[in-house]
Amino acid sequence: MAVKVRNDFYKTVANEHLIKTGAAAEQPKTRAWLASLGKKTWTWRRWGVAVLVAASLAVAVISCGTFTGTVVEPPQIAGATFVGSQNCEQCHQEIYRKFKTSDHARLQAKGKNAENIGCESCHGPGSLHTQSGGLARTIINPRRDPETCFQCHLEKRGNFSLPYHHPLEEGRVSCADCHNPHEGRAINGGYTAHASINDACFKCHTEQRGPHIFEHEAMREGCTTCHNPHGSVNQKMLVSRNAELCLKCHYQQQTTAGQIMIGNFVHQGAGRDFLQRGTCWSAGCHEAVHGSQVNSHLRF
Ligand code: HEC
Ligand code: HEC
Ligand code: HEC
Ligand code: HEC
Ligand code: HEC
Ligand code: HEC
Ligand code: HEC
Repeated sequence: MAVKVRNDFYKTVANEHLIKTGAAAEQPKTRAWLASLGKKTWTWRRWGVAVLVAASLAVAVISCGTFTGTVVEPPQIAGATFVGSQNCEQCHQEIYRKFKTSDHARLQAKGKNAENIGCESCHGPGSLHTQSGGLARTIINPRRDPETCFQCHLEKRGNFSLPYHHPLEEGRVSCADCHNPHEGRAINGGYTAHASINDACFKCHTEQRGPHIFEHEAMREGCTTCHNPHGSVNQKMLVSRNAELCLKCHYQQQTTAGQIMIGNFVHQGAGRDFLQRGTCWSAGCHEAVHGSQVNSHLRF
């Protein structure tokens, strides 16, 4: 898997950085135009622009009233202010020490004003928590509140609202079940060790673990070859709803007209109509996609 750099995260960090330095983003063009309002004489063209601006502002205000989109802002705790990660060290030494190796620590903004981006970017401002010596309900625990992750990983909120998803909002699964926020790679196992991505899944899905007498080698590529762990439009969170799912590995060059071979076996044509009966994993076919105890062709 390629390492993708998602600009929106940096934007969030950068915005926070701006807010803290007080260097709020200024829009020179708008400013100049606004300043000119008081000075120049009002031509018809300027009236036209003014009316247009007013109209689009009105539309924006109306649509804001009905729009339930996300607003990107750091987590809030009433009455609390940011104290900086160093303050957490005295009581959470172990986490503080390991945190330096974590994806999130390595990717935080650097510089004088970046001190607050760290523990508190996920846990919210820590002054009340610190002063009270760690009183309950004075700090956010993202295990119970994924909102704190959504502020930067906006698209994940969308994934988890797809028709088939892990029951996260329902409180039965947490981002922290599959991701390590404090240490090393945020994706368990990182990009190469798919075995450990699978391990994260086996914690709860023991049935797929095996051992199977007839293993399906696809499992070595990792569960995410076939499942989107965050959510999908397809049943069982599959990345594809039809034979495409399997043919990306089992594609075979066809040599005889009117016949479809898969795995060196005629599936369609010459009196067979296997592909019309349903998906590859439908009843009577390769139902044991994760591995079988009885049949090398992955059947029950
Ligand atoms: C004076 C000591 C102290 C300081 C400083 C402190 N904590 Fe805590 N923290 C505690 C104690 C005590 C608990 C509750 C016992 C436990 O669960 O370990 C706790 C619990 C937590 C929890 C779990 C809360 C929950 O509801 O599950 C989080 C998250 C947390 N701290 C984060 C932080 C962060 C972030 C900072 C720095 C901004 C910080 N702490 C600073 C003492 C402290
Ligand atoms: C990327 C977001 C993120 C950052 C940054 C982060 N944490 Fe956490 N923290 C979490 C999540 C998620 C949990 C819940 C972990 C779980 O339940 O397994 C958690 C749990 C905790 C807890 C509760 C005890 C525990 O281990 O479950 C403490 C204490 C804590 N964090 C302290 C810190 C400190 C101190 C820092 C900075 C050095 C920090 N966190 C940085 C996401 C974060
Ligand atoms: C302040 C913004 C911020 C918050 C809050 C945050 N993240 Fe991140 N996260 C980032 C950035 C920036 C990256 C690095 C992006 C990249 O590598 O493309 C990242 C990377 C990740 C990655 C690894 C992505 C990869 O491709 O290696 C995972 C997994 C992740 N975050 C999960 C979480 C979880 C779970 C939470 C909540 C506990 C959380 N994040 C909270 C900003 C944030
Ligand atoms: C059921 C396990 C599971 C849960 C729950 C989960 N993730 Fe993931 N996540 C994964 C796996 C596995 C990958 C690696 C995907 C891959 O290799 O294709 C991943 C990848 C990511 C990535 C980096 C790649 C990408 O898709 O952008 C981010 C960011 C991320 N998760 C954030 C989150 C956040 C935020 C939450 C909670 C709101 C969450 N995840 C909950 C399993 C999970
Ligand atoms: C913390 C436990 C937990 C972890 C870890 C976990 N899951 Fe799940 N998974 C669940 C729960 C709970 C459900 C919902 C089951 C239900 O509704 O009956 C589910 C459902 C599923 C389903 C859909 C099953 C269905 O009947 O629709 C698939 C596929 C799945 N998980 C794959 C994965 C993969 C792949 C991973 C690892 C990246 C993973 N899970 C990690 C708890 C977990
Ligand atoms: C080669 C593709 C493939 C791989 C790899 C794969 N799965 Fe699946 N998985 C499927 C298909 C297809 C189904 C749907 C089976 C059905 O509907 O009968 C499924 C269904 C499931 C279900 C729902 C089970 C049920 O009885 O409804 C779970 C849970 C699951 N997979 C977990 C995993 C886990 C965990 C891994 C990794 C260890 C994994 N899968 C790897 C293709 C795959
Ligand atoms: C990531 C690649 C990959 C994906 C995706 C994949 N497979 Fe496989 N599959 C393999 C490999 C590798 C083998 C072992 C070598 C071989 O027999 O081609 C295998 C073997 C099999 C076998 C046993 C072959 C035999 O001798 O009968 C069956 C059946 C099978 N796969 C069905 C499926 C089905 C059904 C799907 C879709 C749900 C699927 N595969 C998706 C890689 C994959």
